[in-house]
Amino acid sequence: MIIALASSKGGVGKSTLTGCLAGAWAAAGKNVHIVDLDSNHTISRWFADGTQRPASITTAKPSPDQLTEHLEAVIAERNPDLILIDVAGAYERALTLAAARAHLTLIPASPTEADIFEASRIARHITAFFSAMGRKPLYRLVLNRVQPLSSSGQLFTLTEIIRLKLPRIKTRVMQRAAYEEMGLSGLPPHFADRKRPTVAKAIQELDALKSDIEVMFQIAAHMGQEEGAAA
Ligand SMILES: Nc1ncnc2c1ncn2[C@@H]1O[C@H](COP(=O)(O)OP(=O)(O)OP(=O)(O)O)[C@@H](O)[C@H]1O
Ligand SMILES: [Mg+2]
Repeated sequence: MIIALASSKGGVGKSTLTGCLAGAWAAAGKNVHIVDLDSNHTISRWFADGTQRPASITTAKPSPDQLTEHLEAVIAERNPDLILIDVAGAYERALTLAAARAHLTLIPASPTEADIFEASRIARHITAFFSAMGRKPLYRLVLNRVQPLSSSGQLFTLTEIIRLKLPRIKTRVMQRAAYEEMGLSGLPPHFADRKRPTVAKAIQELDALKSDIEVMFQIAAHMGQEEGAAA
C-alpha cells in the first residue's frame, strides 16, 4: 500500500502526518518505508537519529525522477507493509509523480479558506492527470490543526468542503503539542511518552485515522473485485 501526502501549500502538515502515520502502523507491528521527495528533507531530518527512530521505519530520499526505480527496489528488497511519500509544499513535478504512484493521496488542510482552496486545486490537478490516463484517483482531504472550540471560520470551511465536493477522511486531526513535538524529538506519538494526555489523545486520533484509511482500502478492494466479476 502506497500513500502520498500532498499539497501545493506549505506548512499544512504533510511531514507531520507522514511521521505520525508511520508511527501508528509501526506500533501495530508493520514495516513502514518513508520516501522523502521534499528537497528540504524535513522528515529525513526528524527521523535521522537511528537510535530514536522506531526500528520498523526506514527512510530514503531519492530524487523524484528515480521514484519508480526506488519503489521497485524497496518492494523487491524489503516489501514494506506501507510506503508513505512526503512531498514539498509546492506545485512541482514530484507531487504529480507521487500521486501517480500512490494508491491513495492524502491532502492535509487546516480549516482555513486558503488551505481548502489549495486542496481543491490539488484534487482537480490529480483528477485531470489520472483522467488523461483513463484512470480515477483515490484521494481524501485530511482536516489538520483543528481547534477544539469550533469557530464560525471553521464552520464556514466545513460548508466549503461540502460545496466543493471534496471527499474527506472522517477523523479530524486536532492542534496538539504531541504533533508539534515530533519535529523536535523525532518520536511519533505512538513512540512518545504515552502517559502524557496530549500524546494519549494524539494516539487515539491517529488510530482512528489509520482505521478510516484501512476501511477505505477494504471498500476500494471489494469494489475492484465486483468490477472484475462484472467484466
Ligand atoms: N495537528 C498539529 N498540531 C500542532 N502542530 C502541528 C500539527 N500539524 C502540523 N503542525 C506543525 O505545523 C508545522 C508545519 O507542519 P509540517 O512541517 O508537517 O507541514 P508540511 O506540509 O510538511 O510543510 P512543508 O510544505 O513546508 O513541507 C510544524 O511546525 C508542525 O509541528
Ligand atoms: Mg513537509
